[in-house]
Amino acid sequence: MKTLIVANWKCNPKTFAEAKQLFNSIKRGIKKIKNVEVVICPPFIYLPQLLKAKSFSLIPKLGAQDCFWQEGAFTGEISAKMLKNLGVNYVIVGHSERRKHFAESDRMINKKLKAALKAKLKSIFCIGEKEKERKAGKTFFALKKQLKKGLKSIKKAFFKNLIIAYEPVWAIGTGKPCEIPDAKEVNLFLKKIFKNIPVLYGGSINSKIAKNYIKEANFDGLLVGGASLKAEEFIKIIKSCSAC
Ligand code: PGA
Repeated sequence: MKTLIVANWKCNPKTFAEAKQLFNSIKRGIKKIKNVEVVICPPFIYLPQLLKAKSFSLIPKLGAQDCFWQEGAFTGEISAKMLKNLGVNYVIVGHSERRKHFAESDRMINKKLKAALKAKLKSIFCIGEKEKERKAGKTFFALKKQLKKGLKSIKKAFFKNLIIAYEPVWAIGTGKPCEIPDAKEVNLFLKKIFKNIPVLYGGSINSKIAKNYIKEANFDGLLVGGASLKAEEFIKIIKSCSAC
């Protein structure tokens, strides 16, 4: 299995010109990389043009940061099927910023996951405990709850396109990544339940620490936010992981 490095650009950059420049710089920088699958998840509106820009190269792949579970009278939404029809390969579902700022519930995340997996999108299901849950020793309780509710009544046959991303909420965008032993413990816990399903780590990843999560904590890849907006830094992350 190739190491999977996913860039979550969130609501950045401000213009398509900047997005294209960033995308092309990353593409140039990783041309010769073989054993890593790189996925860029830009804002929805940049996807069609970036898909065109990548048509002559299979590196990197493109993903969306969210999806909706159906089409119809749902102003402002974009469905999993629309993304699939556009040629998008991946989608992030249940990111903690969506849970926090847009009140996404486990029930909604479950519907999104079902729709994404049904549309045959590789679906990156984000889970992670809050700081107060970790401090109270409730990390595994919180993770189990998110897993149980998020994956409710999804048939095992759909799991072949499922990817789990462990993103402790307190580690996202804070510059305080989860310590390797703690991250490794969660990874082992997830691998015991989900055999053969890739598990990613996300939360304040930078080029100095990236490879430790692959090499020492045995994650199958990384979900990178802030550091994926700086081409040079993101390329360093990818290269360090390809050398693992
Ligand atoms: P970060 O974000 O790398 O900026 O912490 C990770 C994420 O939100 O997926």
